[in-house]
Amino acid sequence: MSVPARIFEDPAAASRVDSFALRHALAQFPQGVVAVGAEVDGSPEAIIASTFTVGVSLEPPLVTLAVQHDSSTWPKLARSGKELGISVLGRDQNGLCRQIASKDRANRFTGVEYRFHGSALLLEGVPMWLRTRIYDEVRAGDHDIIVLEILDLGFTEDAAGLVFHQHKFKTLTPLS
Ligand SMILES: Cc1cc2nc3c(=O)[nH]c(=O)nc-3n(C[C@H](O)[C@H](O)[C@H](O)COP(=O)(O)O)c2cc1C
Repeated sequence: MSVPARIFEDPAAASRVDSFALRHALAQFPQGVVAVGAEVDGSPEAIIASTFTVGVSLEPPLVTLAVQHDSSTWPKLARSGKELGISVLGRDQNGLCRQIASKDRANRFTGVEYRFHGSALLLEGVPMWLRTRIYDEVRAGDHDIIVLEILDLGFTEDAAGLVFHQHKFKTLTPLS
């Protein structure tokens, strides 16, 4: 889909950016996809997030994600006061991604292989996982930016990650 390029020269113009153009412009930025989850009242709970960002801080080790205010799952995860697991999704996990992000809450984990590391929910077979706890929260428009401190991690060398780009799931191929 082609959207005309628009350049805004004054900061106030940002409030006039229409949401259609904004969504399509920002979709040009490739993002990784993670599942953020925990055990809450004995059950697995998770949200899918493509706003996960690394390289925030090494000392202490911090990552972030942005969570929309209308998420019904995030308040359960946040209020549990527990550790949160971050599972970076691999190239073959787009079906799993849709299942966990689905509105069909009862079947989000049907057939899904996962484990608890403490209270952190970790999906099996992912390229990288983190065990984290909430370090800070910053209100940002209709989302909250959640800063997470890394407590523990694991990864597989050379695993291909899942990429969300231009509203589609993709994977990475090396340039020759
Ligand atoms: C590819 C993809 C990326 C998403 N990224 C985010 C995100 O970064 N932040 C967010 O709050 N929701 C994101 N969502 C939506 C959440 O997964 C959301 O939790 C889901 O729609 C279920 O709603 P619930 O929180 O009410 O259970 C994303 C969904 C998909 C499919």
